[in-house]
Amino acid sequence: MRLARRVVGITGAASGIGRACALAAAAEGADTALGDLDADGLAETAALVENAGRRAATTVVDVTEPDAQPSLVRLAVEALGGLHGWIGCAGTGSGQWALEHTREEWRRVMAVNVEAVFFGAQAAARHMVDHGGGAIVTVASMYGQRAAPARAAYCTSKAAVIMFTQVLALELAGRGVRVNALAPGYTDTPLFRFGLQRDGLPLDRMLQRVPAGRMAKTSEIGAAAVFLLSDDASFVNGHTLTADGGWLPNGAWQERLSSE
Ligand SMILES: NC(=O)c1ccc[n+]([C@@H]2O[C@H](COP(=O)([O-])OP(=O)(O)OC[C@H]3O[C@@H](n4cnc5c(N)ncnc54)[C@H](O)[C@@H]3O)[C@@H](O)[C@H]2O)c1
Repeated sequence: MRLARRVVGITGAASGIGRACALAAAAEGADTALGDLDADGLAETAALVENAGRRAATTVVDVTEPDAQPSLVRLAVEALGGLHGWIGCAGTGSGQWALEHTREEWRRVMAVNVEAVFFGAQAAARHMVDHGGGAIVTVASMYGQRAAPARAAYCTSKAAVIMFTQVLALELAGRGVRVNALAPGYTDTPLFRFGLQRDGLPLDRMLQRVPAGRMAKTSEIGAAAVFLLSDDASFVNGHTLTADGGWLPNGAWQERLSSE
């Protein structure tokens, strides 16, 4: 059990990748403090964690509110006895083209994907530096490392996550806290499916660029997050772990190549 006797705080835990992170952490022995806007989804995740034999404490929060993440840290400490890991997973998508982009949409995306992830990591790190250290994972995206049309705000927000993660890693390295970014590729979640539908995107053609030939299962992304939180990653710091089935290094246009 790689996370035995540890408490992990997770934002965006009501759905998709955040829920999978909670289940992966619980499977490795962690208790979980879970925050999200979606009360019903949170309750479902908590029930799944408890079915796996671990404790779950939940709070319905909007991560863009200034006290939301300090309150999740307090919940972890008061209800579960500490905070050793943190996953900033709450996020939002966006599909506006640059020439039509509104300031409102830009600010909405930055508030959730950048500001909230940064200040969540800050809240977690403030506790960890005074209580024996810990590990933090910020959820970025392969789209923080490559551009995509109609994704100016989203790509920029995820690139920002990757950069501030590196800065946090440098600042906290001497204080017992590791900070790494996790950059998923196409992962089968409600957010991803919503974006496909909103923008009329052809999933089958998109998957032709993925050498793995498929979307990620959320459990595969949860497993990568647990690795980064665990002592298996004790010398991994300021890194961006891309879990995209090979999409990023693939230079071929929409082709899944085979030598056969
Ligand atoms: N699914 C993908 O293909 C993919 C790829 C790369 C990165 N990501 C990133 O993974 C993260 C999780 O996305 P997902 O695909 O699991 O989506 P999802 O919609 O299944 O889950 C996102 C969760 O975040 C919560 N959330 C959103 N705004 C919030 C707020 N202001 N306060 C509190 N909670 C809030 C939602 O309620 C939801 O439960 C996001 O940061 C997303 O950008 C997803």
